[in-house]
Formats: sequence, structure tokens, C-alpha cells
Amino acid sequence: MFNQLKPQPADKILALMAAFRKDPRTDKIDLGVGVYKDATGNTPVMRAIKAAEHRLWEEQTTKAYVGLVGDPAYGDAMINLILGNAVSRENIGAAATPGGTGAVRQAFELIQMASPDARVFVSNPTWPNHISILGYLGIETVAYRYFDDETRGVDFDGMIEDLKTARKGDVVLLHGCCHNPTGANLNLVEWQAVIDVLNATGAIPMIDIAYQGFGEGLEQDAAATRLVASSVPECLIAASCSKNFGIYRERTGLLMAVSQDAGQRQLNQGTLAYLNRQNYSFPPDHGARLVTMILNDDALRADWASELEDVRQSMLSLRQSLAGELQRLTGSDRFAFLGQHRGMFSRLGASPEMVEKLRADHGIYMIGDSRMNIAGLNADTVPILAQAIVDVGV
Ligand code: LMR
Repeated sequence: MFNQLKPQPADKILALMAAFRKDPRTDKIDLGVGVYKDATGNTPVMRAIKAAEHRLWEEQTTKAYVGLVGDPAYGDAMINLILGNAVSRENIGAAATPGGTGAVRQAFELIQMASPDARVFVSNPTWPNHISILGYLGIETVAYRYFDDETRGVDFDGMIEDLKTARKGDVVLLHGCCHNPTGANLNLVEWQAVIDVLNATGAIPMIDIAYQGFGEGLEQDAAATRLVASSVPECLIAASCSKNFGIYRERTGLLMAVSQDAGQRQLNQGTLAYLNRQNYSFPPDHGARLVTMILNDDALRADWASELEDVRQSMLSLRQSLAGELQRLTGSDRFAFLGQHRGMFSRLGASPEMVEKLRADHGIYMIGDSRMNIAGLNADTVPILAQAIVDVGV
């Protein structure tokens, strides 16, 4: 049996992470995998997480199973964080999942189950693992235009034109905020236009929201997701706590199935529980429990929100200084888009050859499509990167 296996393609992001670790250069710079790093290069455990872990250690009396969709209190707290009051709780089915990727995977499986002929529209580009999982499940994908290589902003007209070709029952995958990999995002007027197209075509939105709090702020980053969820008959929302709670390895995510028809909720909820049971039974609890404790405790929540805001501000200031440094070196505003992008990533717009040169000659690692993790920088490395970008001729 085993000799029938074929080697599988390496995940681009994880392959780069491995290559970086192997590189013996001490002045190498990691702008690869999407993990927040502070100025010293550490990915800290957030203060509120530490405090909640401490409390949990003292208070927890059992590790018995919780439930197939996780603790309902986790679902409630996360729904509140992401959707606020945009949709009645009665209309939302929700299940805890192993990370945001788990939520994405379960969403795709639900789509396949409910609507085997549905195509999934994905932005060009999108997070490579979206494409990989869709391909693995044999779901047809259609790329819609998203990133304008010239302006390094959203090709909004192209996007709308392509979304208009969706058929009733197709699914359109959208990034709720902080688009990965480009950093280019829609404004709320543009989101409304996307919603109008979805409602005109009968296509169903699926929102992947993995960076709430990293863009414009916790509330602002949820605004588009809330607008969509309250404006369409049905949608799926895959959320991650990996980044905004800094609990990457705890695998903490949530999948929501939102319907305007409260009568539909029970069926949705049952389906989410069934899918969890088939794939891994009970979702991980540790991270979800910490998140619930934090969101339901005023002091912990305030401390978490304030540390998250510091993280957001630090990435914003790195963006501004990189854009400023490039402005100084080139005497032009060609790189001003870096200050306008939001979230952890920016697509630089360098060719694969330039990206390779940055790695080989300067020890600077970014994904092959020139996605940079801005949080991988610090005050010392910003000028080094800026000079290298100029040197390789971006
Ligand atoms: C990323 O895009 O780098 C992160 O979402 C990590 C991952 O799993 O790919």
C-alpha cells in the first residue's frame, strides 16, 4: 500500500519556514510565515492568556469531554466578538474547530455535502492553503480578480465583473479583513457592492476572518463580516484565534453557519456537530477555554484588547517606516502602498527572481509571490530591507 503513495507538493509557506531555520546566517530576516513577532523576534504569550492559563490551572477539575461543537460559552463569546448584534444568536449555528484552518476545512466539507455542484470562487491571489484544501476535496474553484499588480491595491472593477459570473448556489470566499497574502482590502462601500452582486446572483459568501484586530481595530475589522452576515440570506464564517490571541499551537477556531431563517439553525447546528464527529470528534478545548475566560472577564478582556492594540500599532508603525525609508531611497511614492495595506502582510510586487535574490544575497525570506510578514521586521531591519528592495530592482 505505502509504495502507491506519491510525494505531495510542499506547502510554500511551511517550506520557507524550514529553509529559514536551516540558513546559518545570523543576520537573516524572516518575513515568511504569518506569526506575530515583537521587536526582539519573539512571539510572546499574551498577558491575558498567561493569566487565564494560571487561573485555569487552579480551577479546572476535569479534562473530560466537553461537547462535539465545543463549549457553547466559547461559541457565544466568539459570535459576540465577531458579529456583535448584527445577526440574532437564534440564527447562528457554530462549532469550535482546530484552528482557523479546521474551520475552513469543515466549511468546505459542509458546502460539498449541501451542494456538490457548487463552485468556490477564490480571490487571485488567496491563502495558498485555501486552494490546496479545495483541490484535495475535489471542489471546483474559480479565481476572481482581486489584486492589481500596478497599483498594489484591489482591482475592484475586475473583482465585481468576475463575481457577476457566479451562479446561484456557488460560494464566494472572502477575507473578512487583512487580506492574506496581499494586505489590500475593500472599503465598506465596496463591500456593499460585493453584497449586491452576491444577492443578485444568489451566490453564498464564505468569510475567512483570521486577523481581527490586526488591521484597523477589533470593531472596525469585524465591520465587513457583520455587514455581509446581516445582508445575505445565508453565509459561512471561518474564524481563527491563532493570531489575535497569539495561541497558534493551541488550534482554536470557530465555524459559523448563519441563516436569516431561524428554523434552519437546528439543522445547521446538527450538521456542524456531525462533521466534527466524522473528522476528529471533539475539538481542542484548551485554547477555546482561555479565549472564553478572557472575553467574559472585564479585566482580562480589557488587558487583551490593549495588548492587541499595541501589536496592531507596532505593525502599523513598521509599515510607515518601511514606506518612508523607501520613499527616501527612491525619491518616489512608488512604495506608499505599504503604508496603506493593512494586517500582517503586504505583497511587495517583486518578481520570483527578485524574491530569490533577496533570499540568496541578503538573507531576507519572503514567500515566492513576494508576500512579506511585516511583523518580522524591527527598527534595525527596516532600513536593511528597504536598501535590499532597491538593490534587487523592485
Ligand atoms: C500564514 O498565512 O502564513 C499563516 O496563516 C500560517 C499558515 O498556516 O499558513
